[in-house]
Amino acid sequence: MKTLVTVREIRERSKALKAEGKTIGFVPTMGALHGGHASLARRAARENDAVIASVFVNPAQFGPGEDFETYPRDFEGDAAILESLGVDSVFRPAPGEIYPEGFATKVEVSGLTDRLCGGDRPGHFAGVATVVAKLFNLVRPDRAYFGLKDAQQFFVLKRMAEDLNADVSLVPCPTVREPDGLAMSSRNLRLSPEERKAAPRLHAALELGRKLALSGETDPKAIIESIVEEIRKSPLFEIDHVEMVDTKFLKPVGILKPETAKEARGEVLAAAAVRLGKTRLIDNFIL
Ligand code: PAJ
Repeated sequence: MKTLVTVREIRERSKALKAEGKTIGFVPTMGALHGGHASLARRAARENDAVIASVFVNPAQFGPGEDFETYPRDFEGDAAILESLGVDSVFRPAPGEIYPEGFATKVEVSGLTDRLCGGDRPGHFAGVATVVAKLFNLVRPDRAYFGLKDAQQFFVLKRMAEDLNADVSLVPCPTVREPDGLAMSSRNLRLSPEERKAAPRLHAALELGRKLALSGETDPKAIIESIVEEIRKSPLFEIDHVEMVDTKFLKPVGILKPETAKEARGEVLAAAAVRLGKTRLIDNFIL
C-alpha cells in the first residue's frame, strides 16, 4: 500500500490507476479506524478495481472549543488496517497541503445543514463539504463510500455532489455496531468505563422509537418523546437534539403516512445527538 502525502502524489496515483483502466472506490476518513470504516473499505474493494482511502483530521469541520486537538490519531494502526483490506493507497496530507496560505473557498450546502448536527455545530458541514469537494477533485473516484451513522453528512454530501455535477456516485453504507448496539465511532475511545457502559442506551432509545413507528404510531412528537424519555433515564446524558426530518430537505416531518413505517422507503430520518461527559455521540434510524 502506498502512503501519499502531497496533492501532486495523489493526483498522479489517480491518473495512473485510470490509465490502467481501473475504477476507483474512495473512502474518506479522519482515521482512528474501526469496524465501521473497514466495512466501507471492504465494500469499496468489492465494487471497484482499486480503493483509495484518506486519513485527514479536517480542522475546518471542528468549531472553536470542539475536539480537534484531542481527536484520536493512530496512523500506524490505520495503515495496518487499510493494508490488510487491500487498499491501494492512503492519502494522508498535512493541513497545509489541503489549506495552503491564501485558501479562501468554502462549499456551503444551505437548508439541509440548518438542523440536527448542523444546528448544534454551526459551520461544521461547510468544513465537511469543502474538504470532500477537494478530495473528490484530487482522487476523481468513480464511487465514494459513506456511513449512515452520519446520515445528515451523507445527505448533505449527496446534495453537494449533485449540485456541483461531481462525476461520482455516493454509496450509503449501513451503521456498524458493537455487540451491545453502540454505533462504532472513533470518539468511543474517549468514553470513561462508566460512560461506555451507559452509551448503548442511545441506540436502545432509538430502537424504542423505531418500534413505536413500526407498530403504527404516526405522530413524530410521540416518537421523539419516547426516545427522549428513554435517554433521560440515564443522568449521564445531555441531549443536543432528537429530531425527525424528511431525507430530502432535512426539515421536520408532520404526521407520518402509515406506509412510511411499513415499507422501507427511506423517507424519514430520526436522529439523535447526546453528550456523555465530554464526548458527543450520534445515532439514527431511517424509516
Ligand atoms: P469519520 O468520522 O472518520 O468517518 C469516515 C466515514 O466512516 C464516514 O462516512 C462515516 O459515516 C463512516 N462511519 C463512521 N462510523 C461508522 C459506523 N459505525 N458504521 C458505518 N460507517 C461509519 O465522517 C468523517 O470522518 C469526516 O466528516 C469526513 C467525511 C472524512 C470528512 O472529513
